[in-house]
Amino acid sequence: MTSFFEVKNLQVTYPIHGGILGRQVGAIHAVEDVSFHILKGETVGLVGESGCGKSTLGKSLLKLIPANRGEVLFENQNILALNRNEFQPFRKRIQMIFQDPYSSLNPRMRIGDILEEPFTIHGLCPKAERKDKVIELLQIVGLRPECYEKYPHEFSGGQRQRIGIARALAVRPDFIVADEPVSALDVSIQSQILNLLNRIQNDMGLTFLFISHDLNVIRYFCDRIIVMYLGRVMEILTRDELLDPHFKKHPYTEALLAAAPRAHPDKVRQVKPLKGDIPSPAHPPSGCVFHTRCPEAKDICRQQIPLLKNKVACHFRERDEKTVA
Ligand SMILES: Nc1ncnc2c1ncn2[C@@H]1O[C@H](COP(=O)(O)OP(=O)(O)OP(=O)(O)O)[C@@H](O)[C@H]1O
Ligand SMILES: [Mg+2]
Repeated sequence: MTSFFEVKNLQVTYPIHGGILGRQVGAIHAVEDVSFHILKGETVGLVGESGCGKSTLGKSLLKLIPANRGEVLFENQNILALNRNEFQPFRKRIQMIFQDPYSSLNPRMRIGDILEEPFTIHGLCPKAERKDKVIELLQIVGLRPECYEKYPHEFSGGQRQRIGIARALAVRPDFIVADEPVSALDVSIQSQILNLLNRIQNDMGLTFLFISHDLNVIRYFCDRIIVMYLGRVMEILTRDELLDPHFKKHPYTEALLAAAPRAHPDKVRQVKPLKGDIPSPAHPPSGCVFHTRCPEAKDICRQQIPLLKNKVACHFRERDEKTVA
């Protein structure tokens, strides 16, 4: 099957400035040599601890943050190489849902105007028809037509996130990057928003990159999962592989699973949750970036960077190509 979306050897760094002259003295390696693909209609999860580069990766796919190196192929076109005008038609097709429903909506604009804005920006649908389109969008995300006249402060967090989702859907995108869309919400509201996203994905056949630090959310929602640590991909696995206790996973994936709250706490857990903090991305460890926290680390892990081979980047998880989904 051909890839709908493909990322090749992507690198994104943030400069660190210092001294009285404010010169660049170093760099934060937020995304390092990341490669993966997404098929049309697939929901792919991106999981990893806070600060591992998930949001940076997501934003760089929409060119909101510039990449230093690598390619982002959308239907085989490298969108990183396009100028502003050339990128415009792609910009409409890729939308982002942001983590914080409180700060992502302009408090001075009515909901109707917020949702009409994407039509204006992209010159879609005649002005006279826009109000009807917005009301249709409000209905899709489970909000009443009266919301058109209201302001963001009149809504709860869950309702604001519904508005954020409606805004992303306004231009009928093909691909949505959802960056922690439920992490700022109460647990009871989280499942409503996840159900809404699931329904939208099924009804509209959208392709999703779903970013979360919560494996429980990821395993509910995603067909395949990319596990990231300190800017690098550690493993890519299917939901079935993630849930299969006999499938030998990357030690980091095992540790993330061990740390996630479980539905069946009575079952014995064999892997100890991770100890210690994630190292600084300004000075990533040599060799395998996970070696400083890995219970299985050997000399080779300190010396050689393991390549992502057959969907796993670990010197001690060699996988047969035929067994990989
Ligand atoms: N604008 C910025 N300037 C400098 N460094 C940044 C900037 N944004 C992020 N970083 C750094 O880049 C690294 C990756 O950050 P990023 O926000 O992508 O992580 P994340 O996985 O999304 O974390 P979280 O789960 O907390 O949202 C972190 O070390 C962060 O401090
Ligand atoms: Mg983030």
